[in-house]
Formats: sequence, C-alpha cells, structure tokens
Amino acid sequence: MDKVLPGNILIVGGGGREHALAWKLAQSPAVKSIYCAPGNGGTALMPQVKNLPLAVGNFEGIAAAALEHKIDLVIVGPDNPLADGIVDFLQERGLTVFGPTRTQAKLEWSKTYAKEQMAELGLPTARFYSSRSLEDALAFVRDPNYAWARVIKADGLALGKGVFVCDSVAECEEALTSIFGGSFGDAGDMVVIEEKLVGEELSLLCVSDGKTLLELGCAQDHKRRFAADQGPNTGGMGAYSPVPLYEDAADSTNAVRDNAVRERIRMEVLEPIGKALADGRLSFKGVLFIGIMVAGGVPYILEFNARLGDPETQTILPRLRSDLLPVLAACTDGTLAGIKLDWSPLKSVCVSVVAKEYPAKSSNGEIIELDEPVGQFDAADIVAAGALIFHAGTKLASDGKLTTAGGRVFSAVGLAPTMEAARELAHRAIDGIHFDCKDFRCDIGWRALEQCASK
Ligand code: AMP
Ligand code: GLY
Repeated sequence: MDKVLPGNILIVGGGGREHALAWKLAQSPAVKSIYCAPGNGGTALMPQVKNLPLAVGNFEGIAAAALEHKIDLVIVGPDNPLADGIVDFLQERGLTVFGPTRTQAKLEWSKTYAKEQMAELGLPTARFYSSRSLEDALAFVRDPNYAWARVIKADGLALGKGVFVCDSVAECEEALTSIFGGSFGDAGDMVVIEEKLVGEELSLLCVSDGKTLLELGCAQDHKRRFAADQGPNTGGMGAYSPVPLYEDAADSTNAVRDNAVRERIRMEVLEPIGKALADGRLSFKGVLFIGIMVAGGVPYILEFNARLGDPETQTILPRLRSDLLPVLAACTDGTLAGIKLDWSPLKSVCVSVVAKEYPAKSSNGEIIELDEPVGQFDAADIVAAGALIFHAGTKLASDGKLTTAGGRVFSAVGLAPTMEAARELAHRAIDGIHFDCKDFRCDIGWRALEQCASK
C-alpha cells in the first residue's frame, strides 16, 4: 500500500528559498494546504498558501499554529532557528519536522566543530587552527611556519559575513581584532584560522534521513556584490545549475555526464559521509549543504550548512521534475534509501534582484510594480523554457500593495536549453519588475558561459 504523505505543510522562513519551496510543494498532488511563517509577498499571492504573521524565532507561536492547523510536516528554511533548537522544540510537542536538531545543526553553527568532524571522518578540507584568544590567534598568523593561514572565520553564525579571506598578516590581524572585538557578538568568541585555497566553488545540496545521503543538486553561488566577483560578500547575488565543473552537459542532447571532479567528490566526500551516517559515526537529518572548493581538480570541503541554500534552492528546484514532498517525508521517517530523482535537462540561472545599497542597507516600504502577476506558477513551468520569479524581501499589504522588505527583494530564474538563454530569460523577467532602488548582477553564470565558450 502506498504510504500516506503529509498533506498539511508549514514552511518556516520568509525568503526566496521559502517561496521556491512553497512553489515546488504546491505542485505535489498530496498537499492539501501550505502555511508559511512568516512567508513574504510571493507566498501571500499564492492561492494554495496562507502566511502566518510569526517570526522564525517565535517557537511557541509556531508550535501553537502547527497544532491548530493540524500540520503534518514542518519544514525549516533558515539557519538561526535550527541553531536555536526549533526542531527539538517542535518534536517535543509531537510535531513532525524536516530539519536537524540543534546538536546536529552544530555542523553549521560551529565552524570548529565542523572542522573537527571533517578531520574525524577523513574528509578533505583546508588545514586549520582554532583559537579562543586574540593573543594566541595573532601569534599563530604572525608565525612564518604558518604562512598558509590566511582565512579568518568567526566560529558561529554571522549571516555569511564572518569570513575574511586575507592576503597579508596585517589583514589577518585586522580580521582577528574585529572578530574578538565583538563585531559578530557571540559568534566571535572563537575563531577558525584556515589555509587559503584558490579554486572554484560548488554548493552541493544533499538530504539525509539519518542513515542515507541523497544528492539534491549542485549549484554555483555568486557571493560578491558586483559583476566580475568584485565588492563585499552578500547572502548570494545569484546562482546557476547545473555546474559544468561538476556535471558535463556540453553535448547536443544536453544529457548530463559525470566528470572527474564529480567522481572525486563522490569517492572522497559523499561516500565517506554516507558511510558515517550508515554506521552511526555521524548523526544528521535534513539538508546537508556541502560547500566545496575545487582547487586544481581536488575537492576540499569549505563548510557545512544544515539547511537549503539561498539562492541555490531557487535555481535547483525548478530543474527537479520529481515530487519533492516524498523526499522530505522520507527524511523524517527513515525511508530515503532507494529514492531516485528525475531532472529536467534545462539549464537554470537565478539572478537576485536587490536593493541598490545591499548588503550595507536593505529597502523597506518602497512600492513595487510588476508587469505580470507573479507568485502563481504551475508544474508546466519546469518542462518548458521560461522564467519564474520568486519573491524574497517583499510584503503584500491588505490593500494589495506590494512593497520592498529586505535587501534581496526577488530571485528571477530563467530556464532554457542553454545557460546563455536562461540568463537572458531571467533578465527579461527582471525588466518586468519595477522599484526605485532595483539592482542586480548581470553576469551570473559567467564561469559556466566561459567554459561553454571555450569548449
Ligand atoms: P564559508 O562561510 O566558510 O563558506 O566562507 C565564505 C566564503 O569565504 C566561501 O564561499 C569562500 O568564497 C571563502 N572561503 C572560505 N574558506 C576559504 C578558504 N579556506 N580558502 C579560500 N576561500 C575561502
Ligand atoms: N548561498 C549560500 C547560503 O545559503 O549559505
């Protein structure tokens, strides 16, 4: 007999990632209702979705709403509530939750712990040193024996801002002084000092039911604010998938073929993690997002995140043909083994539409006009080339007015047989979005396009 899938879903979060999740789950035949806490303007516009005005840190409110609406599955998007133990809190109240417990999420909320786990499981990663004292850390970066140590990271969650990739001892000293000086609050009680690697990055999203690891897609994020990877780090200015470095897809049929980098990642990263889950050396349920740097063809794990990436999710999910709901449900009941995913051969490019002053400042209350009504998509979108617009920092007022409410305001996703055409479709979709301080990077996917051009 077929398994009964969860029908009433609650998504915790309110960014582009959560809108993409709501969009994908709304296509699942088993889904009866979707709630978002707090959601955004895009989820408010979806007929199948109801926003609940609850902040992601309001665990009591979220638990009460989940019980009231007879929620069968809670899905947690952002990192902070996971680190604060939302999964433990909701499970203690009898709810079924997709996501890691606070202890499991430590892979994301403590970089020292993550590095120790990597060392214990024999996973490839940059050399590192961890310290709780400014004096000790300064002595380390000044020691010529450790001239490799040029990346300074606050140990805890710092909204992606606590990492300094330095060129000199002086820059390391400045970073350490800033972190220990309290720039990142508690996240900076400890630092990780790391070897600086040079290469190309991949975001590999996987899911686990505690025993098995299943790959949920690979994307490349663009963290720097401005074109040609210039300017400050951001939450993510855009992403694309598939990534040619990981999946060769250069033939005329667009069939994805494995390559040597993928093979190494499979052997050196995914298989050891899968084994550690299977034999109990690693305890983890939910999304394991593995940030990888490929340097000279060799993969190194940069970081683990315990949740879906943003904007990786917006670029990956539109390529996923399979129903996502059975995958998430299987992660909660330990039945992930044997699940296979079906992918569209289309290329996907996601461009973050941001406020001009992002990341320094976000935008609030500015009126947004859209040429086309967005927020109502159906499954047809993923088989045909086209564009999708996911909302991120937007708010829908009761009078129907849509306004900005954040730094990253939309994710525009183009889907097409080539990366170039996909980006063009994303740009055309952005032409239909109007607000005064609108800005975006026009070169998302440049590495993939260069690689295609050089083939
Ligand atoms: P993380 O939050 O640890 O992924 O670091 C944020 C960003 O800093 C990464 O996406 C990389 O671009 C960069 N980074 C982190 N670790 C290193 C490293 N060991 N070498 C070079 N760049 C790094
Ligand atoms: N885009 C990177 C992240 O979600 O952490």
